[in-house]
Amino acid sequence: MSPSDVPTGPAPVNPVLEVIRRRRSIRAYLDRQVPEEALEAVLEAARWAPSAVNSQPWQFVVVTDPDRRRLLGEIARFYFLRYRHVGSAPAIIAVLGRPTANRWYQIDCALAAANIMLAAESLGLGTCYVGGFSVPAARRILGVPPALDVVGLITLGYPAERPEPPPRLGLDEFVHREVYNPRRAPTLSRRLGRSGLFSLRKRLRAWLSPRRRS
Ligand SMILES: Cc1cc2nc3c(=O)[nH]c(=O)nc-3n(C[C@H](O)[C@H](O)[C@H](O)COP(=O)(O)O)c2cc1C
Repeated sequence: MSPSDVPTGPAPVNPVLEVIRRRRSIRAYLDRQVPEEALEAVLEAARWAPSAVNSQPWQFVVVTDPDRRRLLGEIARFYFLRYRHVGSAPAIIAVLGRPTANRWYQIDCALAAANIMLAAESLGLGTCYVGGFSVPAARRILGVPPALDVVGLITLGYPAERPEPPPRLGLDEFVHREVYNPRRAPTLSRRLGRSGLFSLRKRLRAWLSPRRRS
């Protein structure tokens, strides 16, 4: 097939693309347990993730015990800002990786985590990947041996919010054809404007607006 034979027209839509587009980081959950079958289904999705030389360097610890969730909630923070959704999520999946498996073990774990989050979305569950936490403390709480790294935490539960999609760069700002074109790459201010900092600024402004105060 030559490039001119490639069909053009509206972007295709199918359930996988819809789930990818719809998934949002969920930071508020209903007080409702995640059924065991759903937990198994999302972990099964992780099982089929690609990994370097098929090393599958991941291990997952599923935490549903309220006390252990609370402990994880206490160590998940961005400097002084505690992530409340970690302690309040009905389930947390800790993603562990084996550093000696290969030098891409964190990438392998991230790909497995992405499968988990997309599978969860397809089942009506919400997730949030959390990288901001104390690894030594998580290690203690979860009983993780020194040979494994705690790569991330994924909160899981039925969503109690429907967040607006945060801004994204346009395809024309990060896709290059054949060779890299520096003129397409976004400027620093554009990158910052499309990042979470932007959402944070927007949220802060909404919170401080006169309408809110009255
Ligand atoms: C590696 C990584 C680390 C993240 N760490 C955190 C975190 O510590 N706390 C949090 O609330 N969200 C965290 N997130 C979620 C991002 O903030 C979120 O994916 C981003 O703002 C885009 O929003 P969306 O997931 O709704 O599309 C993390 C995401 C990734 C991929």
